[in-house]
Amino acid sequence: MNVSEAIDSRMSCRAFLPASVPEATVRAILEQARRTPSGGNLQPWWVHVVTGAPLAEFLSIIRGKAMAAPRGETPEYDIYPRDLVEPYRSRRYKCAEDMYATIQVPREDKPARLRHFARNFEFFGAPVALFFCLDRRMGPPQWSDVGMFMQNVMLLAREHGLHTCAQEAWSHWAKTVGEFLQLPPEHMLFSGMALGYRDENHPINRLRTDRAPLEEFATLRGF
Ligand SMILES: Cc1cc2nc3c(=O)[nH]c(=O)nc-3n(C[C@H](O)[C@H](O)[C@H](O)COP(=O)(O)O)c2cc1C
Repeated sequence: MNVSEAIDSRMSCRAFLPASVPEATVRAILEQARRTPSGGNLQPWWVHVVTGAPLAEFLSIIRGKAMAAPRGETPEYDIYPRDLVEPYRSRRYKCAEDMYATIQVPREDKPARLRHFARNFEFFGAPVALFFCLDRRMGPPQWSDVGMFMQNVMLLAREHGLHTCAQEAWSHWAKTVGEFLQLPPEHMLFSGMALGYRDENHPINRLRTDRAPLEEFATLRGF
């Protein structure tokens, strides 16, 4: 698989098969992802990988807490700017509508939408959970470094026949995640990520999201 194939075939997988992923595969992905660049070579990423019995234990803690607090805990950062302006607002709306269309959930059916959102907190059935953290004293440049690290993990997963879904939704459970992972106080959760084998038959995995054409976001001069 070349880089273009990895980029083209990566998508946010939201239904996984239960098949486990060998530890050697996860290690190989993370070993290679170490080569991610970062400003000043700070390498500001911290990653926690959870599978098997500890993942089952963690998910049962979340399920227990979600009964009392279905909306989770207060996130430590705003996932989106509070007033999302155009063109971002429409893109976000379209992406959600397209996703719910694949599973035939109309806009009015709020309980079904909430049920789908809650699947985030089961890692969409993935056997491996990753949590990407960074030191809370880091700034926007280091957050972008962590994003690059995550993208490399997602592309390397493709090379191993695996799929992923990055999950900022986990920021709604940052406190519980921090306690479970025993994060030092200076570390904070940025995003979770589901990792595993794609369920090829699940309609939600048929979603292929749009992208703006090059002319909309790129300016080229001097060619
Ligand atoms: C950092 C990051 C966090 C994300 N968090 C979530 C999430 O919590 N839940 C979810 O279903 N998708 C999440 N996504 C997936 C995006 O919605 C998705 O990448 C976008 O719609 C483009 O679709 P694609 O990944 O299939 O190409 C996240 C993506 C990124 C990059």
